[in-house]
Amino acid sequence: MHGLRKGLWLLRKGHYRPLLRRLRLRAWSDTVSLGLDYDPRGQPALRTPRIPVDVRPIRPPEILAFIELPPTGAPRTEALTRTNARHLLESGLQTCYVGLIDDEPVYMQFLITANQNERLSKLFDARFPPLADDEALLEFAFTLPEHRARHVMPTVLLRLIELAAEQGARRVIAYPSVENARFIRFFLRLGFAPFCVRTEKWRLLVRRIEFQPVDSDLVERVSRREELGAVT
Ligand SMILES: CC(C)(COP(=O)(O)OP(=O)(O)OC[C@H]1O[C@@H](n2cnc3c(N)ncnc32)[C@H](O)[C@@H]1OP(=O)(O)O)[C@@H](O)C(=O)NCCC(=O)NCCS
Repeated sequence: MHGLRKGLWLLRKGHYRPLLRRLRLRAWSDTVSLGLDYDPRGQPALRTPRIPVDVRPIRPPEILAFIELPPTGAPRTEALTRTNARHLLESGLQTCYVGLIDDEPVYMQFLITANQNERLSKLFDARFPPLADDEALLEFAFTLPEHRARHVMPTVLLRLIELAAEQGARRVIAYPSVENARFIRFFLRLGFAPFCVRTEKWRLLVRRIEFQPVDSDLVERVSRREELGAVT
């Protein structure tokens, strides 16, 4: 149902290429993600530059910057990311944080805790197992394209890990896709450890989610800088 709504939204806005990609993925695809976890009470293994960015929960007027669709000729991933952002931000899912430079929102990311389990399961079906009281889930990192390559993501991510610890979390979890091997390598450098492999299988519009033990070969390939596309 969520998927249909997102598809209709793209259709209404004339974004046919992203819509075709969505349909293709739902016809037949395997999307593999690596489950990673981290104890936020420790020091991150990686020393990475932090820049002056304010981090706080997003406010309603700031949402538009992340959900407004780009012109129809823009890269299709951009329209898909913004459609997904719209869906999550309008769902009422708590808590989305925003990174601000000079009071301007430039980055968004959810830090989700166990009190959101019901919404989490409605929004993502079985993609995320319910969170325990001492767990927090990092999901949906998005920097506005004009603010990329300024080290906003690491700065906000590290702050969110601190916030998770301040809120009592003992385990921060993320499920980056292996399509984004650079993102996974960044988590591994911070000190996150792989604990499972999640495969989202679409077969003729029917979705199945599978969790398997860590595949050391997969982790090795990602670490070796192999970019692993979605298996479709
Ligand atoms: C992923 C994303 C948030 C990274 O933001 P960015 O502005 O490109 O990267 P930043 O300048 O903030 O950070 C750069 C650092 O992050 C690391 N990094 C991790 N993943 C990265 C990625 N996909 N692209 C670029 N850098 C990435 C780099 O290694 C770099 O660290 P280093 O300087 O120590 O090597 C951004 O590219 C984005 O919004 N992409 C579209 C949405 C998306 O794919 N989100 C991730 C999955 S939810």
